[in-house]
Amino acid sequence: MSDQTSHKPDGRVTTRSLKRFKKDGKKITMLTAYDYPTAKILDSSGIDCILIGDTAGVVVAGNENTLPVTMDEMIFLTKAVSRGVKKALLVGDMPFMSFQVSEAEAIRNAGRFLKEGAAAAVKLEGGSEIAPLILKMVDFGIPVMGHIGLTPQSINKFGAHLIFGKTEKQKNYLLQSARALQDAGCFAMVLESVLPDVAGEITESVSIPTIGIGAGPHCDGQVLVISDMIGLFEDFKPKFVRTYADVAGIIRKAVSEYIRDVEKGDFPGEKESYG
Ligand code: KIV
Repeated sequence: MSDQTSHKPDGRVTTRSLKRFKKDGKKITMLTAYDYPTAKILDSSGIDCILIGDTAGVVVAGNENTLPVTMDEMIFLTKAVSRGVKKALLVGDMPFMSFQVSEAEAIRNAGRFLKEGAAAAVKLEGGSEIAPLILKMVDFGIPVMGHIGLTPQSINKFGAHLIFGKTEKQKNYLLQSARALQDAGCFAMVLESVLPDVAGEITESVSIPTIGIGAGPHCDGQVLVISDMIGLFEDFKPKFVRTYADVAGIIRKAVSEYIRDVEKGDFPGEKESYG
């Protein structure tokens, strides 16, 4: 395969493109999206990869964590996002308890993201313990992105949003898991809340790309939650977020102008009326 064919002819980013980007030293860009208009904007802005994250449970639905999110909710969001995407690689996030109960259920649910949601791949939280399941999914034609470090679906096990890689035991588990995910056939993996040096060591030790969130600058790419980076979600802001816009402020200003215009009888005017 030549360099030119690492992208599909129509310019679509594929799982192969991401591996090529790592080889070429091109940083991979990924953001989450949960709806059609946002997906369209991200895609036309040139983002490499869009994740329909189960963070929707927090930043869209207002839950305290991602645990309540269901498969049907994820499929609804994935369908909406995929309708807005022409080029970016679309990854659907498998929600809590959609892949843990049995191998058959996991494969059926992963397949739904591709069949019903038109995603190109799925993401699963977990390390070496889920490598045999990932191997099966990949065998059956379902590309998988791994996710290690802080895995928010296990928040009740951890008890807090911890930083990973601080102890030798954690570091060894992360390195061993990264290799297991690579060997199982993952095309990339997310590293969340991992000490920068440990993330760098993992990135050097695997041939597939690492995509960091709160994992420092040495990863092959970066991902952020769209609602955090555009300043829409205001309940809390993790240290690793850089805010690029004040969308909440823009909405507030627009809404107060609308309220003023309606109350003054200024809206609707002639321009906004039929006849
Ligand atoms: O659900 C999500 O949005 C994620 C990212 C934070 C990587 O898993």
